[in-house]
Amino acid sequence: MKPYYQDESIELYLGDCRDVLPGMSADMVLADPPYGDTSLEWDHWPEGWVQAVQGALPDDASLWCFGSMRMHLDRRSDFAAWTYGQELIWEKHNGSGFHADRFKRVHEIALHWYRGSWGDVYKDPQYTNDARARTVRRKTRPTHTGNIEASSYTSEDGGPRLVRSVLQVRSMHGKAIHPTEKPLGILDPIIRYSCPPGGIVLDPTAGSGSTGMAARMSGRRAILIEGREDYCEAAAQRFTQAELTFDAAV
Ligand SMILES: C[S@@+](CC[C@H](N)C(=O)[O-])C[C@H]1O[C@@H](n2cnc3c(N)ncnc32)[C@H](O)[C@@H]1O
Repeated sequence: MKPYYQDESIELYLGDCRDVLPGMSADMVLADPPYGDTSLEWDHWPEGWVQAVQGALPDDASLWCFGSMRMHLDRRSDFAAWTYGQELIWEKHNGSGFHADRFKRVHEIALHWYRGSWGDVYKDPQYTNDARARTVRRKTRPTHTGNIEASSYTSEDGGPRLVRSVLQVRSMHGKAIHPTEKPLGILDPIIRYSCPPGGIVLDPTAGSGSTGMAARMSGRRAILIEGREDYCEAAAQRFTQAELTFDAAV
């Protein structure tokens, strides 16, 4: 099948992922399907997509899937062949709740599923360098031993820290190309964690191609599938524009 768009790192296909997927291969899946938990016209879970992506992956691969808790509970049986690994919470700066009689919803959940044994699954734990050595005040003075100790000391907990499972990233509100566009800041750590450098990330419901952008920026490649031509076009323009901007900056 001819890609709708192609460059050195991204292949984008127009079509229903369940038709396009046979014969493809990738190192991980990063999916952001319609959650199917509202009555909005476009919000329909593509039945069978999880089974369809399975054939594109090796036995010990990762599948990350965005969704709401309602969606993940409703769709648990779709992931019957997969083992739960962990979850990431994306905390947004604004809410997307539709209900005035519930807590204001300001987060999405990305679940990590894997097959095979956890030890064989590719993982590259991510670290931040933002922790700083800090001065910590003792709460109580130690018993007097002849040495009068300083009332504070420098903590040893500066330096790299594991990235936390709750990520605060601004949503694309006000600048989105796609109504449910994911910011690159939430996709980047997932890709770096689960896809080896130079490897291929597969996104079967790609929307405006955010996964492709994040994959390219982290030195990975991407295979993207999107069912709507207007979103494929928006994604293709985004990829081209980003390349032009990058070239101009070099
Ligand atoms: C939640 S959006 C993805 C947004 C994307 N992560 C982004 O950042 O732009 C889901 C997308 O899946 C597409 N879609 C729905 N069913 C599909 C199917 N069976 N095959 C391919 N794409 C599909 C929709 O058109 C929509 O653009």
